[in-house]
Amino acid sequence: MAGRKLAALFMAVLQLCLCQITPEPMPEFLAPLENHTVVQGRDVFFTCVVNNLHSYKVAWMKSDSRAILAIHTHLIAHNPRLSVTHNGHNTWMLHVSNVQKNDSGAYMCQVNTEPMRSQNGYMEVVIPPDIMDDESAEGMVTNEGGNIKLKCVATGSPKPTVTWKREDGRNIILREDGQKQSLKTYVGETLELTGVLRQEMGTYLCIASNNVPPTVSKRYSVDVHFQPVIKVTNQLVAAPIDSDVVLQCHVEASPQALNTWYRNTGEKLLPSDKYAMSEYALNEYSWQMNLTVNSLDKKDFGEYVCSSVNALGKADGVIRLQELHLVAKTTPSIFMKNTDLKPRKKPIPKGKKKNNINNGRRMHVGTFDDFDFSGNDDNFNTTQVVVGNTAQEGHRTEIPLTLPSLSPPWVILNTANSRHHSVPITLIFLFIALTMTFVL
Ligand SMILES: *[C@@H]1O[C@H](CO)[C@@H](O)[C@H](O)[C@H]1NC(C)=O
Ligand SMILES: *[C@@H]1O[C@H](CO)[C@@H](O)[C@H](O)[C@H]1NC(C)=O
Ligand SMILES: *[C@@H]1O[C@H](CO)[C@@H](O)[C@H](O)[C@H]1NC(C)=O
Ligand SMILES: *[C@@H]1O[C@H](CO)[C@@H](O)[C@H](O)[C@H]1NC(C)=O
Repeated sequence: MAGRKLAALFMAVLQLCLCQITPEPMPEFLAPLENHTVVQGRDVFFTCVVNNLHSYKVAWMKSDSRAILAIHTHLIAHNPRLSVTHNGHNTWMLHVSNVQKNDSGAYMCQVNTEPMRSQNGYMEVVIPPDIMDDESAEGMVTNEGGNIKLKCVATGSPKPTVTWKREDGRNIILREDGQKQSLKTYVGETLELTGVLRQEMGTYLCIASNNVPPTVSKRYSVDVHFQPVIKVTNQLVAAPIDSDVVLQCHVEASPQALNTWYRNTGEKLLPSDKYAMSEYALNEYSWQMNLTVNSLDKKDFGEYVCSSVNALGKADGVIRLQELHLVAKTTPSIFMKNTDLKPRKKPIPKGKKKNNINNGRRMHVGTFDDFDFSGNDDNFNTTQVVVGNTAQEGHRTEIPLTLPSLSPPWVILNTANSRHHSVPITLIFLFIALTMTFVL
């Protein structure tokens, strides 16, 4: 029994001794080093918290270059943008001001124990996108059908993505190996437009983005040159004497053309009490030209010419103004209606569209073949003649489908401005005559 007591006492003494010779605790990091994503030019710092440092020292290193930046509070690196601080307790900080791209990488907080203890923090330096100056940004010009190359070189870190789109929201047209692609946006530094058509004229935007704000964009203007084209929707206009009438021409030209009105005698029309001219832009390359002829008298009837000239050429459009004789409303009325009419390749074939014609309420007169639609697929309003009999609704007039070739094809009534006539229902003598011909 005594032996066991002795042994226990010995153990207790041994434990006490062991306790006393246990070495002091080693330095330890309280938290990992942070990682930083910093925009170039900003300031940043790493914080290293070490407990039980005793007489050991904290050093900062750039891990990739193994360069010692600082030991304790002494700066080693010759870099005025670096500094170190110590809070007098357990916290050491490495400050980097005006961060540069080459500051990116791993930073190490190290304690010179044996073996040494260390931890890493990472810095990523990002740079918002910028677009380098390029002469193509000043504006590119080509003749229609030509090619244009727009370059948008963007810098930044990470490397920005360059996206193109049109300012007006229309699609970008790419033509390659006879293939046509129509895209809302195109990604790439170089936008190559080939076989450029007038519809592709306008402002193109290059947008550079790398998720580092701000995103930047640059405007490129694309100018497509072509000679003027004139479209006359209503080639024949009838109006009563004493009324005012508006004659209209649609001009497409680039660069902008000089537009003039003439009588067919060659007389250039100038603004006066008789004539008023106006034009307004429909888009970058289309204009509506109006000529108002006031208080029509006999000598005002005849041909009018709208003329458009630019550096690439010239175009004319002819409008015939004729007198409208007003007749009392006893015969079937003829209504004029503006409708979008697509250019049609062929006249209405016999037998087809029968419903349209045979009920006598709708009759297309003439086709769009008479007009020049070169290089353009727009629709133009024209005047559709609706022949009806208001008094006998449901009455079907069996008009044979053979339409005579009328030249000019459209007649527009222009009595809106009539000052001296009250015209409840207007009609065109020409069509009365025609209708009569058909019926007979
Ligand atoms: C910092 O990034 C490294 C690797 O990218 C990762 O292992 C580490 O956990 C990150 N540190 C912190 C504090 O998020
Ligand atoms: C880092 O870049 C800055 C400016 O961009 C330069 O002054 C400095 O010498 C570079 N440092 C190193 C280590 O390359
Ligand atoms: C041209 O004439 C049309 C029809 O009369 C009119 O609606 C338009 O406002 C005119 N445009 C100008 C610029 O006078
Ligand atoms: C056609 O006329 C309609 C209404 O009459 C108008 O809204 C449309 O803009 C016109 N289209 C053209 C191409 O002039």
